[in-house]
Amino acid sequence: MHDEHLPSASQQPASIDVHSVNYYYPGKVPLLAITNASFSVGPGEFVSIIGPSGCGKSTMLRLIADLLRPTSGQIAIGGQPPERLRRSRQIGFVFQDAALMPWRSSFGNVMLPLQVMRRAGKEGKAKADEMLRLVGLGDFRNKRPAELSGGMRQRVSIARALTYSPKVLLMDEPFGALDQITRDEMNQELLRIWETNRATLVFVTHSISEAVFLSDRVVVMSPRPGTIRQSITIGLSRPRLPAIKHEPGFFEYETQVLRALEGDA
Ligand SMILES: Nc1ncnc2c1ncn2[C@@H]1O[C@H](COP(=O)(O)OP(=O)(O)OP(=O)(O)O)[C@@H](O)[C@H]1O
Ligand SMILES: [Mg+2]
Repeated sequence: MHDEHLPSASQQPASIDVHSVNYYYPGKVPLLAITNASFSVGPGEFVSIIGPSGCGKSTMLRLIADLLRPTSGQIAIGGQPPERLRRSRQIGFVFQDAALMPWRSSFGNVMLPLQVMRRAGKEGKAKADEMLRLVGLGDFRNKRPAELSGGMRQRVSIARALTYSPKVLLMDEPFGALDQITRDEMNQELLRIWETNRATLVFVTHSISEAVFLSDRVVVMSPRPGTIRQSITIGLSRPRLPAIKHEPGFFEYETQVLRALEGDA
């Protein structure tokens, strides 16, 4: 997990601007999932989105990834429509369940986007192995998902999203299903990867402590129809080590996020 095969930063991270976005899920009675949402994320910034279940966090990530289109309002990534970045595969997406192909090995799963992009040659294979080592799975490259633990599967999914050095990395509760200890380890691992391989990162979580620990800024959403209630800058120094969670400043940020969630900030 600690070898020095770090990826080359071939892509500059991009800013994300979400401006007055509304989104209705179509249907007999259209469902307003997101209303008048505006926020931005700076290049290379780590922003967490937190909010109650059903408030539109996953919808927001899908809109940024161009898997859905806003009903009204605009989204720009590095000043461009998200579609351009999706088409040139500059957006990495880590889903809540690792979403791996069960018949493929770790290596085979990490190679998948490169194969789709026709970049599966010698260089692509070296990159996939580099990323597997980066997430600490060098010795597990030939194992299938059923032979891995939940945390390891999630790491394969992170390695897969990193192989093509996306400008923007979107993560939807990637560690939600893990126990607290594994989750803390994964948080540390993620920060290490992000610090060596800077992408603009939008991270969805239900955990206040996880959001404060990881982020430069925590964006708090209201219940559905989701809108941005508050954006809280986390002024804790980096690199962040687990001991920071015992500092009074950490607790103050947690309280601030909790108040914003409760709507009396
Ligand atoms: N494909 C869909 N079709 C119709 N409605 C949907 C669809 N996906 C989500 N919704 C609705 O949109 C709203 C927002 O859903 P979303 O999945 O974005 O919430 P979330 O904040 O990610 O919740 P959770 O924390 O539980 O994952 C919910 O009311 C949900 O029922
Ligand atoms: Mg969700």
